Amino acid sequence: MHIGCPKEIKPQEFRVGMTPNAAQEAVNHGHAVTIETGAGIGAGFSDADYIAAGAAIADTAAEIFTAADMIVKVKEPQAVERKMLREGQVLFTYLHLAADMDQTRDLMESGATCIAYETVTDDRGGLPLLAPMSEVAGRLAPQVGAWTLQKANGGRGVLMGGVPGVSPARVAVIGGGVVGTQAAKVAAGMGADVTVLDRSLPRLRYLDDVFGGQFKTSYASAGNTIELAREADMIIGAVLIPGAAAPKLISRAQLSELNPGAALVDVAIDQGGCFETSRATTHQDPVYEVDGIMHYCVANMPGAVARTSTIALGNATMPFMIALADKGWRQACEDDAHLLNGLNVHAGKLTYAAVGTALEIDVLSPSAALKS
Ligand SMILES: NC(=O)c1ccc[n+]([C@@H]2O[C@H](COP(=O)([O-])OP(=O)(O)OC[C@H]3O[C@@H](n4cnc5c(N)ncnc54)[C@H](O)[C@@H]3O)[C@@H](O)[C@H]2O)c1
Repeated sequence: MHIGCPKEIKPQEFRVGMTPNAAQEAVNHGHAVTIETGAGIGAGFSDADYIAAGAAIADTAAEIFTAADMIVKVKEPQAVERKMLREGQVLFTYLHLAADMDQTRDLMESGATCIAYETVTDDRGGLPLLAPMSEVAGRLAPQVGAWTLQKANGGRGVLMGGVPGVSPARVAVIGGGVVGTQAAKVAAGMGADVTVLDRSLPRLRYLDDVFGGQFKTSYASAGNTIELAREADMIIGAVLIPGAAAPKLISRAQLSELNPGAALVDVAIDQGGCFETSRATTHQDPVYEVDGIMHYCVANMPGAVARTSTIALGNATMPFMIALADKGWRQACEDDAHLLNGLNVHAGKLTYAAVGTALEIDVLSPSAALKS
């Protein structure tokens, strides 16, 4: 198979769909790989790294879209990229179609077979191609929160680990899933006094069993949440209700009860945010203040550490990408129901039920798509 990887063109996107290691793996499996020149620069990979891995370099995205049987990317294809997709071609990338009618229509019109990273599943009910980015955002949250807490950045002037004789920062992490667990681990590692709140008792039991010595747990009732928030120097929002907007757990009126200069890091901002006063920000201007409380609400946190994120995503996507290349999409999806769950669009039809419901478009079942 000929696999092509264009340079990402969405603003502020520095990741790349294939690492040199992924390219080498595909080449070792007998596939041809073409990377657009400069595609890896943002993640610290040069054209020479890809050439050493056995890939070819193309000058333009157009050459890649024309020649490749499968396109591997990071972000959803932009309008100009969607025009270059064609029938029979496989697209393997994040799509997030449920809120994007224009993209959905364009992908259906292209005739291509589009497999979305975010809906591929695993045996434990998880989302293996979304988890690496949650891990990155979770570990980054205390790091950016610590910066926000510094006085010159508008914060409370509190050091995460304190010093001998001075108490460490108090951190409340709301939501103890992938993001929350990684955030709590790093905040505790920085020496902070950390409590994780969640509404799932099984999750709290798991966290207590595994991390009991490192951080505390608390049931996320409204009362416990505001009580811990009042004491906190930093509050990390990490809740998720799948398929729904994030619940608002701290209202504007409650900001006056928090410590002046406290840092709110709303990782759940990509689902609307879990604080009433959250609004999405960018890496260029990540923090703003409301009622004396500092808000960090960057919707694409992994972009700040593009190299780590690219490698983490590549580790997770590589086995699926190799299966798609080795067997072709049909056989690969027939052999792996979790990969089949990633199928969102095929030959002009939408094939993912939740997107169909959200956009009111008729859906062809993935199993029927396999036979079509
Ligand atoms: N900003 C970014 O760059 C970025 C990057 C990755 C993930 N995210 C977002 O971070 C959020 C968390 O993702 P995740 O992978 O950790 O999800 P997850 O499903 O692993 O964990 C979510 C947790 O929230 C808990 N929860 C749900 N409602 C709650 C409530 N009212 N109070 C307390 N806990 C509650 C759930 O029980 C679960 O344990 C998602 O919105 C995700 O989209 C953002």
